[in-house]
Amino acid sequence: SIDISTLTRQTGFTTLDYGFVNTSATKSAITFIDGDQGILRYRGYPIEQLAKNSTYLEVAWLLLYGELPTADQLAEFDDKIRHHTLLHEDLKRFFSSLPHTAHPMSVLSSATAALSTYYEHQSDPANPEHVELNTIRLLAKLPVIAAYAHKKSIGQAFLYPDNSLSFVDNFLKLNFGVLSEPYEINPVMSRALERLLILHEDHEQNASTSTVRLVGSTGANQFSSISAGINALYGPLHGGANEAVLDMLARIQESGESVQRFVERVKNKEDGVKLMGFGHRVYKNYDPRAKLVKESADEILSELGVHDPLLDLAQELEQVALEDDYFKERRLYPNVDFYTGVIYKAMGFPTRMFTVLFAIGRLPGWLAHWTEMQGDPQTKIGRPQQLYVGAGKRDYPGAV
Ligand code: ACO
Repeated sequence: SIDISTLTRQTGFTTLDYGFVNTSATKSAITFIDGDQGILRYRGYPIEQLAKNSTYLEVAWLLLYGELPTADQLAEFDDKIRHHTLLHEDLKRFFSSLPHTAHPMSVLSSATAALSTYYEHQSDPANPEHVELNTIRLLAKLPVIAAYAHKKSIGQAFLYPDNSLSFVDNFLKLNFGVLSEPYEINPVMSRALERLLILHEDHEQNASTSTVRLVGSTGANQFSSISAGINALYGPLHGGANEAVLDMLARIQESGESVQRFVERVKNKEDGVKLMGFGHRVYKNYDPRAKLVKESADEILSELGVHDPLLDLAQELEQVALEDDYFKERRLYPNVDFYTGVIYKAMGFPTRMFTVLFAIGRLPGWLAHWTEMQGDPQTKIGRPQQLYVGAGKRDYPGAV
């Protein structure tokens, strides 16, 4: 391998790589992807095995600390998280200053940045106790903020967390429970959400994780770095695609346009229209997460007793696209976002909450990468080069 820093200093050599298609910014021991084979592993464990057998918190521990936790370690981790779910009452008032039309992703990123203001005295990235505490705080409080963003958007009262419940059940109750009415846990929904969250927990150097690392490389604390990651995830080419897929399916359904005609418009790049939920920078084969989500979609919808014609439409769209040369030549397959929205919708989440659910899923990965970076002696502030193509030196009128 070439030591690029030395080469750059000695020769002025730089690479121009729009979109970092061929630039590794770090070494990492967290997640392995083979995009040609469609393989994804967290700390060596295949995603298929984790999604089937593990829990969100167990996988979070695995990502953060490198090994599966013992039963005692997991119980202690779970317990600590349950005891940090409350938000400061002042922070709850922060939500009332925002319009009810605010997108829940904007609410989530702003409230996460605002969390920092409560813990600045305990947010030194070089202090392992602070890092540990804020890891717990973020894992405990972000789902509560996410649920309040949801409640705010539908004009319902916020519920206090119910710490007798598991992480996922508590999250479901915060979203769907109604003040002073009992909330009945639906185990099918719980398990389905747990599985979806696990599938999203990490995906190595994607745009939001790279953002978390870049911001963290400046010495910024976890709250500021994660808030930046949430903003990066919001875009429709990244996590925002799950919302965009549902909007696309609904538009096709409402307009009565045939799937074939829509695909033709995509291929002709009419008005820049894309098949949302298709294509990936790394996967040039079926995204293994999409495979698992697709398998679950039919099963979960039937267990929840929901028939959604949008699932039929998505399946038809996939079939037409996969048989088409445009998609074959470019090796475009469904990504994780293609089928998740149909499931979230069946659970009762509004479309605008879909990317927020992605963010809750991805949080352990962001934290694991932020922590890995802090502990890596090779870490430097992230600072890309540019090739300057602007004007040469010229004088301000009257300056000479
Ligand atoms: N629909 C139609 N054409 C597409 C699509 C798509 N979804 N994705 C890529 N292409 C085409 C491009 O137009 C390009 O065609 P060309 O060679 O004729 O110009 C070719 O395939 C290569 O695509 P790039 O844009 O160069 O691929 P890149 O790796 O830069 O982009 C991305 C990857 C952003 C995911 C892209 O596939 C896309 O926009 N997909 C739709 C949005 C989406 O689903 N995003 C979620 C990604 S997964 C995630 O973040 C969780």
